[in-house]
Amino acid sequence: MPAAPKLSVFVATRFLEEVESAFSQAFEATFTTEEDEPLAELARLAGEGARFDVVLFSLNVRMGAAEIAGLPEGTRALATYSVGTDHIDFEAAAARGLAVFNTPGVLADSVAEDAIFLMLAAARRATESIDLIRERRWKGWTPKQLVGVQLSGRTLGILGLGDIGERIATRARALGMRIAYHNRRPVPDGEARGFVYRETPEALVADSDVLMIVCPSTPETRGSVDGALLSHARPDLLVVNVARGDIVDDDGLIEALASGRIRGAALDVFAREPDVDERYFALPNVFMVPHIGSSTIEARLGMGRILIDGLTAWQAGEPAPNRAA
Ligand code: DGY
Repeated sequence: MPAAPKLSVFVATRFLEEVESAFSQAFEATFTTEEDEPLAELARLAGEGARFDVVLFSLNVRMGAAEIAGLPEGTRALATYSVGTDHIDFEAAAARGLAVFNTPGVLADSVAEDAIFLMLAAARRATESIDLIRERRWKGWTPKQLVGVQLSGRTLGILGLGDIGERIATRARALGMRIAYHNRRPVPDGEARGFVYRETPEALVADSDVLMIVCPSTPETRGSVDGALLSHARPDLLVVNVARGDIVDDDGLIEALASGRIRGAALDVFAREPDVDERYFALPNVFMVPHIGSSTIEARLGMGRILIDGLTAWQAGEPAPNRAA
């Protein structure tokens, strides 16, 4: 049987060389040369007669209703190089009959490791430690310097216990932590597996020493970690966000941190990336990194591979585990 023609893919985000080379082998791939305006370039190429089955992109390309309506005729699928899909309007994609693919699973270990890194950084006052030593202000060891908290025996409260949350829990258990969580519904066998269910976010916060935000950004979760929720916190609470910045209400978190109502925070994600609310920079009890949860070579290669496998299966009419719609 002759091999099926390769899918024609417009790649609207640029990736690591290894990933782009894998895309070039698997697809008839056209890579954007206008990274700031890739969809305008796509429209121009289509106007010149090019035809693409798939638009492949990442978090830097918003696929809202207007962008989806503007995609060229003949587009059949969207593939996002991310597990998060909050930059895609699913209703608009469905209205155009587009299949949607994402990258679940392959980055979960990477994000879980980032979560543990951030939790430890918050517990051990990493921002203050790094500043002290790098600014050459350190005067030598004293028993009073930079006293943090030990995590063993403390409770990790996971807001959104899914695949990534479970991997964070496995690692946190190795640190001697107890695990509590809140989801809309309890996970199967949660209790037997040692996950303590809290029916409301408020009950979870009240029971936690570390609040780990792992839930997706949805109309329900956006802005939900706010001053009112944090008013239920113990004074020692550390807040860690590896999910999406807009789940946190910055005013509420900053007020809780600045007033000492909670102990600290570690943030991988921000509401208006790459703009970070200026007030965080003035808070020594905040540790920040620029959205690096999935930034490992293993995750990056895996994300490319899962999109290739999913799109190839879809082309062959087979089910794809990473089909999001
Ligand atoms: C994702 O894949 O959604 C991540 O946020 C990127 O690291």
